[in-house]
Amino acid sequence: MNPLFTPVQIGRHTLPNRLVMAPMTRSRSDDNGIPSDLVAAYYVQRASAGLIITEGVFPSAMGKGYVRTPGIATDAQVAAWKKVTEAVHAKGGRIFMQVMHCGRISHPSLLPNEAQPVAPSAIKPAGQTWTASGLQDFVTPRELRLDEIAGVIDEYRIATRRALEAGFDGVELHTASGYLPEQFLSSGSNQRQDQYGGSAANRARFVLDVLAAMVAEAGGDRVGIKISPEMNFNDIVDDNPLQTYTYLVEQLRDLNLAYLHVALFGAKVDYHALLRPRFNGAYLMGGGLDQTVAEAALADGRADATVFGGAFLANPDLPERFRQGAPLNTPDKNTFYSPGAQGYTDYPSLSGTSAN
Ligand SMILES: Cc1cc2nc3c(=O)[nH]c(=O)nc-3n(C[C@H](O)[C@H](O)[C@H](O)COP(=O)(O)O)c2cc1C
Repeated sequence: MNPLFTPVQIGRHTLPNRLVMAPMTRSRSDDNGIPSDLVAAYYVQRASAGLIITEGVFPSAMGKGYVRTPGIATDAQVAAWKKVTEAVHAKGGRIFMQVMHCGRISHPSLLPNEAQPVAPSAIKPAGQTWTASGLQDFVTPRELRLDEIAGVIDEYRIATRRALEAGFDGVELHTASGYLPEQFLSSGSNQRQDQYGGSAANRARFVLDVLAAMVAEAGGDRVGIKISPEMNFNDIVDDNPLQTYTYLVEQLRDLNLAYLHVALFGAKVDYHALLRPRFNGAYLMGGGLDQTVAEAALADGRADATVFGGAFLANPDLPERFRQGAPLNTPDKNTFYSPGAQGYTDYPSLSGTSAN
């Protein structure tokens, strides 16, 4: 039997197949961070995934980092997400919300009262970001005071509670791609002298405190974490990723999480081999997979489920295509983050029309 199409237990949930839709920012929400009906249609089209992980969702207004991204910080945002989860559930799907606080990967024009973005240390990332008025340089962030950090952690706890209120089946902590949790975790962006900086144990403290807060709301069996060691995206660097990630994953055991999601992009170390035996929940493998690689990883027991990004973006009926060995639509990069239905809900399914 093809291992992709066997059920698997992920925390509290039984997935009917091992194809997980990767979290993907699509920038189709309004300026108030409210996902539209189009967003619901997009996820419903992909409800045949074993599990959908949503695009990154900001837990508080200070966590926003891109135009037209959604939040879970207001009642209106919760109400809009409720429509999404109900629609996905009605189609028989399961959906986790990815919590994404961008930290320094933001811009005052995206934040309340033109606030300076916050980060573990006042270190400006190299690069530029899209704002309402086009590409602009990142700014130097404001270092979070020690007495503010508990408040930021609490924002994740409240976001988790609100996600459950909105009907999500669980939550994933975005600890990759150079956003706030990875800014704490990585030596290049964290030069704090207090208990949140310095050693690997201190740099991992923020991530572990946030996860503990999320677990307190949802239970470990509805919380996952995504990491991408050595991804170096958004100017994130760490002096010793092997040590940092080994430490982090060993500490996760006590939290009894639903899953560890590891997406690799040309890392020099085989983190899948390193980290899977150190973790006690389901292991989700991602980053540049194709069907053959995914099936082999599942057959060999190197992963419990496999995560697809671009392929799910462009193929609403990806599981059916894999089942049939059908050709795949190609993702169109030009419409990844553009507003509207084009390149979003108009990718055809095998039947020739957009699914649903
Ligand atoms: C358009 C786009 C948006 C993405 N946004 C996010 C995001 O919000 N959160 C996240 O963790 N990863 C994000 N990613 C990365 C994916 O989750 C995934 O790790 C990556 O695409 C590798 O998988 P693939 O090779 O199957 O596409 C994004 C990827 C794409 C293509």
